[in-house]
Amino acid sequence: MVFTVRTHEVVALFLVVCISLLPSALSTAPQVPCFFIFGDSIVDNGNNNRLKTTTKVNYQPYAELLGFKSAIPPFATAKGTNNQSVNYASGSAGIRNETGKQLGQRISMNEQLLHHNVTVSRIARLLGNTPSRKDHLCKCLYYMVVGSNDYINNYFKPEYYSTSKKYSTKEYAAVLTREYSQQLKALIKSLNNHLPDAQFIYVPALELSEHIPVPGIKFLLKPCCEVSKTTGLCVRGKDPCPDRALHLFFDNFHPTSAAYKAAAAGAYAEILRLIQ
Ligand SMILES: *[C@@H]1O[C@H](CO)[C@@H](O)[C@H](O)[C@H]1NC(C)=O
Ligand SMILES: *[C@@H]1O[C@H](CO)[C@@H](O)[C@H](O)[C@H]1NC(C)=O
Ligand SMILES: *[C@@H]1O[C@H](CO)[C@@H](O)[C@H](O)[C@H]1NC(C)=O
Repeated sequence: MVFTVRTHEVVALFLVVCISLLPSALSTAPQVPCFFIFGDSIVDNGNNNRLKTTTKVNYQPYAELLGFKSAIPPFATAKGTNNQSVNYASGSAGIRNETGKQLGQRISMNEQLLHHNVTVSRIARLLGNTPSRKDHLCKCLYYMVVGSNDYINNYFKPEYYSTSKKYSTKEYAAVLTREYSQQLKALIKSLNNHLPDAQFIYVPALELSEHIPVPGIKFLLKPCCEVSKTTGLCVRGKDPCPDRALHLFFDNFHPTSAAYKAAAAGAYAEILRLIQ
């Protein structure tokens, strides 16, 4: 089966807490002291490497414009040494717990949120019950990109999952939206326990899809590498296309750096617009 589903169903958003505290864009330090990333293979930078799964992923995370000097560490190796930024994302994971199970182990969104509770407790222990703790968590930026696996590694795999028998596509979209908003509420509740006066602003990140023009990109559907007909991923060991910047997609699911840069620039501009 050749996969044609792109990222239109993906939920991608930024959650910004107390953003009035964002330091000046002119500073050389990162513009936020902490950045938490949740999601799937689009942003997994190592969490799946020790899991039993065929979806090990290692993609550059989403941090360049914000001024981070190095990649945000994956939760799998963060282990309390860093109280600033953590990446919880896991390839093949989804909003629903069972999503991606036919590929092996993965960390579902619900488990990623449990991991974030671990981080918040660590930060609380390190900083104590002081104004600096409130100040620290208050300046954090949250990024989530999730949802495509709930289709490509769940709904559209009726041989493994019953969701397509249970729900029409419209009902399933409503189920996912409901579950995802419960997850967001749990995240906000845990933040509110630490930050009673916090305010939250959602910034929908720009969708990456063939419908959105990206400057310089010529191939909107044709992936850059030769993809496997069964997995939709790049065939191992084959050379990718000579100029990745001309393609929107690297394989059948994952956008190229050029596409990420365009989406990041759009999301970043949107954050600045909302906080100014
Ligand atoms: C933890 O965060 C606090 C407040 O932002 C900072 O002062 C401290 O250096 C951080 N510690 C580590 C180990 O990153
Ligand atoms: C999904 O997983 C979470 C965390 O592992 C668990 O608390 C929850 O009960 C599960 N939900 C369902 C519907 O199985
Ligand atoms: C995280 O902890 C808070 C309490 O601080 C709790 O309300 C919330 O449900 C927890 N989140 C998850 C996903 O378990």
